[in-house]
Amino acid sequence: MTGLSTSETVSAEARSPGADIAVVLGTRPEIIKLAPIVRQLRGRTRVIHSGQHYDDELSGQHFREQGIGAPDVVLSGVGGGSRSAQIAATMLQLADEFAARRPAVVLVQGDTNTVSAGAQAAHYAGIPVLHVEAGLRSRDRGMPEEINRLITGALADVHCAPTRTSAENLLREGIDPRRVVITGNPVVEATEWGLAAGGSTAYGGPSIPLAPYALATIHRPENTDTEEALTRVLCGLRDIPIPVLFLAHPRTRLAIERFQLWHLLEGITIAESPGYTDFLRLAAGSDLLISDSGGIQEECTVLKVPLAVVRRSTERPEAIDAGFARLITPDLDLGAEIRRMLSSPDLRATLASTPSPFGDGAASVRIARLAEDIADGGLEHALAGRWQGGV
Ligand code: UD1
Repeated sequence: MTGLSTSETVSAEARSPGADIAVVLGTRPEIIKLAPIVRQLRGRTRVIHSGQHYDDELSGQHFREQGIGAPDVVLSGVGGGSRSAQIAATMLQLADEFAARRPAVVLVQGDTNTVSAGAQAAHYAGIPVLHVEAGLRSRDRGMPEEINRLITGALADVHCAPTRTSAENLLREGIDPRRVVITGNPVVEATEWGLAAGGSTAYGGPSIPLAPYALATIHRPENTDTEEALTRVLCGLRDIPIPVLFLAHPRTRLAIERFQLWHLLEGITIAESPGYTDFLRLAAGSDLLISDSGGIQEECTVLKVPLAVVRRSTERPEAIDAGFARLITPDLDLGAEIRRMLSSPDLRATLASTPSPFGDGAASVRIARLAEDIADGGLEHALAGRWQGGV
C-alpha cells in the first residue's frame, strides 16, 4: 500500500513532539503541492496519508523524490474503493487519529476524496481546517471534485485562494471575507523546484520521441469511464501529426483493458506515470500538452508550454484567459483542434513572456506562516492579525 515499505513509514514518536500541524493528503497531486509547505514547516507537521493512492507509481516515488520523509501515519482500506467507501474509511480513521493526538490545525489541499474526508473529520472534531487551493469552481456537479470542493469550502475555517477569481467565488457563496486569503498556489514553487532538481538520468520509461512531440495524460472519469468517451480521446491522440508520448494513469490503463481499446494506441508511445521531475522534464521538452489534469493546467503556466484541456469544463479559467490553455469540449473534433494549436507558430514565444496567473512562487511560505499563526495563537488570533483583509 502507498508504495511505502513499513520501514519507510516513521512512527509519530520519531517525529518532533511539537508536530502540531496535521497535513492530510492521499493522492499524487496533494503530495506534490503540499511538499513545499511541509518543507517550510519542517518538524511541525504530522503527515497523514489516507492511502487513496497506494501504488509506488502514484504515491511512494513522490514521497521519496520530494525529500519530505515518509508519512507519519498511513490509513488502511481506502484505496480503490467507491467514493463513499473512500471518504467514510478515511473519516473514521482520522477521527480516531485526531482523538488520540489532537492537532492545532489541519491542512488539506485541493479537491480529492481525501480532502473532503479530511475537512469533515477535522471540522467534526472541532479542529480548525485550512484549505489550500480554495475557491476553484467548475460549476459541473457531475465532477466528484466539484462536490469535494463545495463540501470543503463549506467546512474550512481559512481558505487559501490561489487567485482573485477563486477568492471571488468564495465571497459569492457567502464566505466571510476575513477567512479568505489570496496566497497563490504552491504548484508554482513545486514546479520551479522540480525543474531545478532535474529529471533522473535513470528514467525507466520508453525512449522519448524526438522533438517535436506532444505529451498526453488522461485520467478523469468523464474521459475514461465510458467506451465512447475513451474512444474519442484515443482517436483524437491518434490524429495528431507529431509523435505522442502518453503517460497513462492506472485508472486509464484499466479502462483501456476493460473496453479492449489497445489497438487505438498504435503509433502512440505509452508509459506509466513517471516521477515528478521526470514528468516536468518530459513536459518542458514537448511542443504541446494534452490533458484533463488540474495540476497540468497550472504547471503549463510555469513551463510555458501550451495545453489542450480535454474536459467538459474547467475550474481553472485563469490558464485559458492568460493564453496558456484551450478548453476542448466533447462537442469539438479533438484531433482538428489540436492540429490548429500546433499550427500557431507564435504561441510559444508569447507564452515565454507571460507570467503564471497562479502565483509568485511564495504561496507555500505564506500558507506555512498562516498555519503556524493558527497553531501558535488560535484561529481568531491568526485571522485578526496580519492576514485580515487578505482579499
Ligand atoms: C484521484 C482524484 C482526482 C485526481 C487524481 C490524481 C478523487 C475523486 N479523484 O483520481 O481528482 O486528479 O486522483 O491522480 O479523489 N488506482 C491504482 N493505483 C493507485 C490509485 C488508483 O491502480 O495507487 C486505480 C484503481 O483502480 C482506482 C482507480 O485508479 O479504483 C481510481 O483511483 P481513485 O483514487 O479513486 O481516483 P483517481 O482517478 O486516481
